[in-house]
Amino acid sequence: MTILVTGGAGFIGSCFLFHMAENHPEYRLLCLDKLTYAASLKTIKELLPKNNFRFIREDICDRDAVFRLFQEEHPDIVVHFAAESHVDRSIEDPAVFLKTNILGTQTLMDACRRFGIQRFHQVSTDEVYGELPLNRPDLLFTEKTPLCPSSPYSVSKASADLLVLSYHRTFGLPVTVSRCSNNYGPHQFPEKLIPLMIVNCLYDLPLPVYGDGLNVRDWIYTEDHCRAIDLIIHRGRNGEIYNIGGRQEMCNIDIVKLICRELGKPKSLITHVEDRKGHDRRYAVDSSKLSGELGWQPEVPFRDGLKRTIDWYLSNRDWWEDIISGDYRKENKALLPG
Ligand code: NAD
Ligand code: DAU
Repeated sequence: MTILVTGGAGFIGSCFLFHMAENHPEYRLLCLDKLTYAASLKTIKELLPKNNFRFIREDICDRDAVFRLFQEEHPDIVVHFAAESHVDRSIEDPAVFLKTNILGTQTLMDACRRFGIQRFHQVSTDEVYGELPLNRPDLLFTEKTPLCPSSPYSVSKASADLLVLSYHRTFGLPVTVSRCSNNYGPHQFPEKLIPLMIVNCLYDLPLPVYGDGLNVRDWIYTEDHCRAIDLIIHRGRNGEIYNIGGRQEMCNIDIVKLICRELGKPKSLITHVEDRKGHDRRYAVDSSKLSGELGWQPEVPFRDGLKRTIDWYLSNRDWWEDIISGDYRKENKALLPG
């Protein structure tokens, strides 16, 4: 079995590669990644020398490169993580989000049509559903919740999801889509809430909380997300959407306070700053379809996962300090195979 993982040098894709290498050692794993600003090849350094692993630095929008790779490798399953993933960047500059997240997905699916595939799995997000109100804790996103994305990022993901489903309906391409809530864990780029707050705490820098800090996200430890994808690609039903959520709702300000407490830093570092434009109030995911059909449950409680994550950032300063200094770009070049 050959699995092509796009975006495998990023946060969740790298966790998925390690998960697959450990749980399916007989599989051949291919990682296709452009190495954008969000990627550190150091994250998957241990995989690079393995015989059943191949890293390919290419852009998913480059049709010739993608088709060449499919011709050489004939992957059985594609797990598609590669994307521009940061909401704030999509508000600053939407264009690359539409190109990578929509057209890049189309290129991959066209290659799947041309060369054949057992399964194309689209890794998507709960943000495609838009927001839930704070005063209705009974409401959760289900797979039937209408799409109502708010940011250029979530619009690009919703568009890609629809495109994937259209390739199933129109061309019979075997696909699945998963929509997951907010991930946290090791190797997350320090522009996202949790790693940014950890790193700023360690430098005694202000902790920028958007608006009143009462926005709620449903947090899931990355490894729990990756276990769910492993189940879906093997046992999920063709043409289906599966929600994945941690059922651990937390508001931003409480998370930042927890991080301060864990690191022994004063809450006076917390600084309320201008709110994100179009800031979604609350996300909460109902994963009962996935639990019912495939027996999946999240295993890592938020407090434990947060502690593990903080410990990882404390013991791996070189990983994130290289990102902050920009040295990781040189290291990416040095680590590139060939
Ligand atoms: P990330 O930003 O950490 O990593 C993205 C990876 O994709 C990077 O390695 C980058 O180099 C690569 N990439 C970007 N553009 C590319 C291109 N044109 N060609 C090839 N590679 C390219 O992202 P992440 O947080 O690991 O998210 C991975 C996927 O999961 C995304 O599709 C995202 O929408 C989805 N997702 C993320 C979360 C979350 O909380 N982070 C939650 C649900 C879904
Ligand atoms: O829900 C899944 C999504 O989660 C994924 O699809 C996205 O790829 C991922 O980036 C994440 O999106 P969010 O916008 O929810 O994550 P972010 O870490 O950027 O922000 C989490 C919350 O924290 C959000 O309410 C905004 C707030 N925030 C964020 C940053 C970076 C702050 O208050 N201050 C900050 O500096």
